[in-house]
Amino acid sequence: MNAARPDRIAVYGAYGHTGRFVLHELRRRGFVPVACGRDAAKLAALAEAAGVETRVAGVDDPAALDAAFAGTAAVLLCAGPFMDTSAPVLDAALRARIHYLDVAAEQRAVADTLARDAEARAAGVTVLPAMAFYGGLADLLASAALDGATDADALDIAVALDGWHPTRGTRITGERNRHPRSYIEHGRTLHLPDPAPVRTTDFPAPFGRQETVLLTLSEAVLVPHHIACRNLHAWMNLAPLRDLRDPATPAPVATDDSGRSAQRFMVDVRVRRGAHQGRATASGRDIYAVTAPLLAEALQRILDGRVRGSGALAAGQAFDARDFLAALTPAGVAVALEVASGAEPAASVS
Ligand SMILES: NC(=O)c1ccc[n+]([C@@H]2O[C@H](COP(=O)([O-])OP(=O)(O)OC[C@H]3O[C@@H](n4cnc5c(N)ncnc54)[C@H](OP(=O)(O)O)[C@@H]3O)[C@@H](O)[C@H]2O)c1
Repeated sequence: MNAARPDRIAVYGAYGHTGRFVLHELRRRGFVPVACGRDAAKLAALAEAAGVETRVAGVDDPAALDAAFAGTAAVLLCAGPFMDTSAPVLDAALRARIHYLDVAAEQRAVADTLARDAEARAAGVTVLPAMAFYGGLADLLASAALDGATDADALDIAVALDGWHPTRGTRITGERNRHPRSYIEHGRTLHLPDPAPVRTTDFPAPFGRQETVLLTLSEAVLVPHHIACRNLHAWMNLAPLRDLRDPATPAPVATDDSGRSAQRFMVDVRVRRGAHQGRATASGRDIYAVTAPLLAEALQRILDGRVRGSGALAAGQAFDARDFLAALTPAGVAVALEVASGAEPAASVS
């Protein structure tokens, strides 16, 4: 096997919508991406357009995956459904003893990856599932609002999108993912009821008051991995879900040179722990595009040692959450953080 170079990073699913944002972000940070995927023709077209090194490997071919990841320091998995891709790509990463990060939004795939903590520790690598808009971002916000505490009475996550033009990968993943989704109430992990409850949620401007539905994604697996929650709920406003359900909703369209769409997002996390109340809110543009700086920032911190050890970790467990969130400002992510204890008024800390 070639000696691993710390700047060479495998991106599996590199020619997908998210993978392309990730390639661009890695290059911007001075990494040398190695574009991997199962389709030789799509990789050849990517090599032609982006001048990137490519390696063809199906997830059902361990020897090809080993060859694809040889000489790299980490693999960033951007190909989903992750119920098909995570396990074989993680197996290959562990064989090669390289770090593994993915962008899964599927609870089951993330739970299966986190369950491999002992293997990751034994290999001396960091395994970070759902290092993305869904999953990692809410986990970082929850960790920041809790100021490092590892238990909470209540954690309430609310996502607002002004619309959602889904990629093919999002649609296929949604259709394939039939596993029940979990949330936590009064200390018990439950499956979402059908129909799920609807409530009105007050978001900061510009979203304001929105109808939201109880809908948990990978964050409901990541957060309890390192924070003991008595209650954990996640809500999403209804407009993007109507878009998602409509087969006529088009794929995302770039509205600037970076490839970002005009989609606006907000993730608003409120926590309660005894007398401590915290709220952390992130807002920005394009949930696919923002996944690239989340993933690349995590990778950079793993490689330069700003990570809390090896193992299968959630984002807020692996990193200093407040410092990480502050590093997203150049990517256009605005973060507001408020904490209050007892009768004291809320104090804004960033
Ligand atoms: N958590 C988050 O916030 C977040 C953010 C962004 C994306 N995602 C997830 O990431 C995945 C990709 O999304 P996307 O928007 O990039 O979709 P996309 O543009 O449709 O790309 C999907 C990519 O996955 C590859 N792929 C799918 N199944 C595969 C398999 N069995 N073996 C090898 N490659 C496979 C595709 O390759 P082919 O073209 O060869 O099929 C393609 O490269 C989806 O599951 C999506 O939900 C999550």
